[in-house]
Amino acid sequence: MPMNQRIDVAVTRALAMAGGGVAPPRLAAALPYAVLPGGARIRPTILLSVAMACRDDRPALSDAAAAALELIHCASLVHDDLPAFDDADIRRGKATVHRAYGEPLAVLTGDSLIILAFEVLAQAAGDMPGRALQLIQVLAKRTGMPFGICAGQGWESETQVNLAAYHRAKTGALFIAATQMGAIAAGQEAEPWEELGARIGEAFQVADDLRDALETAEQMGKPAGQDALHGRPNAVSALGIPGAVAHLKDILGGAISSIPSCPGEAMLAQMVRAYAQKMTPVNLTPQRARAGR
Ligand code: IPE
Ligand code: IPE
Ligand code: MG
Ligand code: MG
Repeated sequence: MPMNQRIDVAVTRALAMAGGGVAPPRLAAALPYAVLPGGARIRPTILLSVAMACRDDRPALSDAAAAALELIHCASLVHDDLPAFDDADIRRGKATVHRAYGEPLAVLTGDSLIILAFEVLAQAAGDMPGRALQLIQVLAKRTGMPFGICAGQGWESETQVNLAAYHRAKTGALFIAATQMGAIAAGQEAEPWEELGARIGEAFQVADDLRDALETAEQMGKPAGQDALHGRPNAVSALGIPGAVAHLKDILGGAISSIPSCPGEAMLAQMVRAYAQKMTPVNLTPQRARAGR
């Protein structure tokens, strides 16, 4: 089965666990609305790529891990878009959850997806309870405080911000979870995989900052120019556009050399090269300025 289909099946199966029963119908509809059809699904793709590079001997557990990670990511976006955070109207080209369902249901959608992620992992333990427990631990660590996305979002309420710590927690955390959970699902040690996840995550955030500065909302399917609007620390304001592009190239070079030795090492290096090409903007002229917006 192609990887994107594998992820789709796993995520859909996970969502089915939250359906049925006598559930409030609008909240039941908001959960799949937040998760499907999904965005680029880069985190579960990296997770499954690492699992496959390590021989993926328990594919059902890897699938559950991929679904759990994507659910946490989607939850983080639902909460991030709320008026209390970025107050965004569109996400993935459609109305954000609070615009479509209202704020109370958006808060509950994010909460429900986070809890569902852990339920999915617990249920997938099968004959590998030790691996499932480690998966739960890593996902919890990279979601909460002090190493997870909660910490990352928390930096936005500080007056003095450490850009590296902010990015590492806000975005890097779920990429570290991706590489480590892929390794754990396939029975490998998590620790050697932290650096690769951190580097891909850092590159991803720099690329996202560049897109935020360069692209239009139509191109991205979400509001543009948000970092400047909210006065949020970002790689473009810190380094300028050419500086941020150079930094992105540096980080990705380091990512390739940090791949731990494993049967699929060459395949993973190829994956990082492909992401590097995809992430690096070709046109360094801001499109909004050119479009007069
Ligand atoms: C957006 O992540 C949030 C950031 C951490 C910058 P993605 O760009 O991976 O979002 P989707 O899932 O593809 O929509
Ligand atoms: C979102 O960060 C990251 C998390 C939800 C943890 P941003 O606010 O920078 O990302 P976008 O631009 O809304 O996708
Ligand atoms: Mg935000
Ligand atoms: Mg945002």
